[in-house]
Amino acid sequence: MDNMKKPWFWLSVLILCFSLHTNLSLGADRITANQSLSGNQTIVSAGGVFKLGFFNTGNSSNFYIGMWYNQVSEQTIVWVANRDTPVSDTNSAKLTISGGNLVLFNESQMPIWTTNLSSTSSSSVEAVLLDTGNLVLRQGTGSDYFWQSFDNPTNTWLPGGKIKLDNKTKQPQYLTSWKNSENPAPGLFSLELDPKGTTSYLILWNKSEQYWTSGTWNGQIFSLVPEMRANYLYNFTFESNENESYFTYSMYNTSIISRFVMDISGQIKQLTWLEPSKQWTLFWSQPRRQCEVYGFCGSFGSCTENSMPFCNCLTGFEPKSQKDWNLNDFSGGCQRKTQLQCESSSPSNGKSDRFMAIPNMQLPKHSQSVGVGNAGECETTCLNNCSCAAYAYDSNGCSIWNGDLLNLQQLSQDDSSGETLYLKLAASEFSESKNKKGMVIGIAAGAAGAIGVLVAIFVFLMLRRRKRIIGTGRSVEGTLMAFGYRDLQNATKNFSEKLGGGGFGSVFKGTLPDSSVIGVKKLESISQGEKQFRTEVTTIGTVQHVNLVRLRGFCAEADRKLLVYDYMPNSSLDSHLFHERNSNALDWKLRYQIALGTARGLTYLHEKCRDCIVHCDIKPENILLDADFCPKVADFGLAKLIGRDFSRVLTTMRGTRGYLAPEWISGVAITAKADVYSYGMMLFEFVSGRRNSEPSEDGQTKFFPTWAANVVTQGGDVLSLLDPRLNGNADIEELIRIIKVASWCVQDDESHRPTMGQVVQILEGVLDVNLPPVPRSLQLFVENQENIVFFTDSSSTQISQARSNVSTTSSQAQSQSQARSNISSSSSKSLSEN
Ligand SMILES: *[C@@H]1O[C@H](CO)[C@@H](O)[C@H](O)[C@H]1NC(C)=O
Ligand SMILES: *[C@@H]1O[C@H](CO)[C@@H](O)[C@H](O)[C@H]1NC(C)=O
Ligand SMILES: *[C@@H]1O[C@H](CO)[C@@H](O)[C@H](O)[C@H]1NC(C)=O
Ligand SMILES: *[C@@H]1O[C@H](CO)[C@@H](O)[C@H](O)[C@H]1NC(C)=O
Ligand SMILES: *[C@@H]1O[C@H](CO)[C@@H](O)[C@H](O)[C@H]1NC(C)=O
Ligand SMILES: *[C@@H]1O[C@H](CO)[C@@H](O)[C@H](O)[C@H]1NC(C)=O
Ligand SMILES: *[C@@H]1O[C@H](CO)[C@@H](O)[C@H](O)[C@H]1NC(C)=O
Ligand SMILES: *[C@@H]1O[C@H](CO)[C@@H](O)[C@H](O)[C@H]1NC(C)=O
Ligand SMILES: *[C@@H]1O[C@H](CO)[C@@H](O)[C@H](O)[C@H]1NC(C)=O
Ligand SMILES: *[C@@H]1O[C@H](CO)[C@@H](O)[C@H](O)[C@H]1NC(C)=O
Ligand SMILES: *[C@@H]1O[C@H](CO)[C@@H](O)[C@H](O)[C@H]1NC(C)=O
Repeated sequence: MDNMKKPWFWLSVLILCFSLHTNLSLGADRITANQSLSGNQTIVSAGGVFKLGFFNTGNSSNFYIGMWYNQVSEQTIVWVANRDTPVSDTNSAKLTISGGNLVLFNESQMPIWTTNLSSTSSSSVEAVLLDTGNLVLRQGTGSDYFWQSFDNPTNTWLPGGKIKLDNKTKQPQYLTSWKNSENPAPGLFSLELDPKGTTSYLILWNKSEQYWTSGTWNGQIFSLVPEMRANYLYNFTFESNENESYFTYSMYNTSIISRFVMDISGQIKQLTWLEPSKQWTLFWSQPRRQCEVYGFCGSFGSCTENSMPFCNCLTGFEPKSQKDWNLNDFSGGCQRKTQLQCESSSPSNGKSDRFMAIPNMQLPKHSQSVGVGNAGECETTCLNNCSCAAYAYDSNGCSIWNGDLLNLQQLSQDDSSGETLYLKLAASEFSESKNKKGMVIGIAAGAAGAIGVLVAIFVFLMLRRRKRIIGTGRSVEGTLMAFGYRDLQNATKNFSEKLGGGGFGSVFKGTLPDSSVIGVKKLESISQGEKQFRTEVTTIGTVQHVNLVRLRGFCAEADRKLLVYDYMPNSSLDSHLFHERNSNALDWKLRYQIALGTARGLTYLHEKCRDCIVHCDIKPENILLDADFCPKVADFGLAKLIGRDFSRVLTTMRGTRGYLAPEWISGVAITAKADVYSYGMMLFEFVSGRRNSEPSEDGQTKFFPTWAANVVTQGGDVLSLLDPRLNGNADIEELIRIIKVASWCVQDDESHRPTMGQVVQILEGVLDVNLPPVPRSLQLFVENQENIVFFTDSSSTQISQARSNVSTTSSQAQSQSQARSNISSSSSKSLSEN
């Protein structure tokens, strides 16, 4: 505090105070040479997009200089200056220009973060926050940037930023995760451009262990990220010169707020802000599975996919820091509950260490193989070296692991690649269960009377319960049956006959004691509590329609959640539609009936039941067929059941590319019109008999929906579009109608799409339908350049053609009236009356 005695100190304090009042008032977008920022002062970029100032996280008194969106209601930090040197008193700390650098001084006026440039002239340097989210240091407008935050990213890659590789030093630039949701200090996961110059992005654990690669850039997509092909949101470009190589990206629609983060989960995520729902929506994330993230659960932690939480400590271990685990920071891993005997200072005491078999594990990397002949010697080898933590013995012989075990994964029962890991534990860990038993007996002896009564009540309840189960087969809840897990296990012969898998879990065939046949869906990744689950399921149970699969009951026992449906003998639509050279392909009449029935089922979901249900995953796999080929929509309401986990479901569903409406990607709110889009995509498949995403047998590379929409609008030969297995046997009028409806359903702008109710009326022949324009987004599915040009031209003429048919009666938005006019009533009934 010697400084305080010096006059210049007080002078600078005076200047500081003065400048605070005069210069950093509302609306400032920069810090100039004699200004500084402290307390709750902020600067805001000129267009009001980003804000910079001190922030803290959670409940902590750690403050950081950071940047966040000014207009996003949930404070979202995109850049942090002093990642690992927080300050606690923001009024005495300050961010200022000093010696030509931007410097953060802490409470004791010591520099704790700096742009650290050696060669800037100190006069008239200013730090300006730009609307792109780039904080730049420059000398007046138009000069080069001495320094920019885009060159020093933390965990977020904003549009316009780059993650680059220095071509001279081969030094990559890292995008590094936060340590946990409350600590922006660098975590263990980082993204970099491959220093070998392969144009691949890599994700590394602790900057050493690579666990993901994007694959090389082919000019349009990264080879291992095929979903980029259907991307019409981001413009990714690669640049390379003698100094640096980098990717950068921009938004085609710059009013969409989007960010790319290296998340604390070890996954890279692209998130888009949804203003209507005021939340960030995930639409892309890699690696897909959480347990692919190397070392996610830390040492001696084990990762289990589809479980909540993902991480558990191995038997005999406990989290090193429960607080960090609660923040989803598992990197600290687990520690032994009981010290090994070989580690203890008095090794003569106690029994020697033993091994616990853990089946179905994916073994950790970096084992040491030992040339011994049998499992027993392998065990002895591990036992004899205290630093050995585990061993495994398989066809490759004996492997042992020294030190901490990292990257353990518990595989599911169906995964045959799992092996047994033998984990070294103190002997007392094994006798623990015996000890507890002894204790229970001791207590029981002391309180025999009370226990006796309790046991009697328990037995009575169990008997009653059993009787109820045996007597009626199951208990009743509302219109739904509540099944016991045992009952379903018996009914499905221990889940032996699998009917199919899906986004939410596998379905098994079963037979109830009353010999009715059921389909049992074993739900995965349901994080809901039992009570909430029952409420949701009961709601789904009330939704009944001839074209919806009937939910008969459910099972909710602890984390076992199952749904019981009527069994559908003819399986799902895809098995009939897409089976190659299937002689008994569905005939046209049946296809039309299935299309109509499906539309009726969806209409019911969207319009007729109490709460509108958006299905979110319409595709042939989810249209089941009963004995008479009556279609029944399956899996409705499940998106809601998954609840909080919805974003994960979305990433799974992105696998079924080709049915998803553009708004899933562009980040506007999802409405029933998203189902209409998926339904439209499926209608095209009714016609072609093949998946839109697959090329036809004769090697046609045209994207079928685009082609079909075009043939119809040009008045071409529609029969040439028909599934060749039908040999031209189809009602031409119906065929044209289906393609027209389908084209309307897949319009980019959801207000141009009909409702499912209108689709039903059109398919019933009550309403007529005009020629549709070819949707713009379909063009992006087409890889053939010629087609793109061609359709761009024709679609604009068709739009004007469609407009000329408008018989406008309302002053509504043009798009609305356009949508209505395209479907003009043939029964003299005005559509707006519906
Ligand atoms: C400090 O700020 C004042 C008022 O904005 C300005 O007139 C002056 O030139 C600045 N001084 C320096 C050294 O930039
Ligand atoms: C900033 O802090 C001052 C006192 O520290 C307080 O009076 C003022 O309301 C705060 N302003 C805002 C916008 O929070
Ligand atoms: C915030 O911290 C205080 C004191 O440390 C504590 O009592 C309180 O429970 C914390 N609140 C939350 C939400 O963590
Ligand atoms: C300020 O930073 C210096 C240098 O890093 C450090 O020694 C000092 O303890 C810090 N002061 C406070 C109050 O944290
Ligand atoms: C600034 O850079 C120099 C060398 O360029 C380095 O030695 C020093 O540690 C850096 N200081 C900070 C605070 O980063
Ligand atoms: C990460 O690597 C460094 C050495 O590069 C090592 O000191 C550190 O312990 C590693 N961190 C973990 C969690 O293993
Ligand atoms: C994509 O970005 C590149 C480089 O930023 C630009 O040249 C190109 O015009 C953009 N493409 C589109 C379609 O916006
Ligand atoms: C990197 O620089 C060298 C020359 O310094 C050049 O030959 C090479 O093509 C550059 N690499 C890329 C990817 O541009
Ligand atoms: C590469 O760096 C040198 C020196 O900094 C600079 O003169 C040159 O213009 C840079 N090249 C490109 C393509 O940016
Ligand atoms: C861009 O996105 C905004 C907000 O989502 C939307 O309102 C607007 O219509 C979009 N513009 C274009 C040209 O798609
Ligand atoms: C135990 O294993 C470690 C690691 O392989 C090795 O360095 C050490 O020498 C071994 N100790 C004994 C006693 O064999």
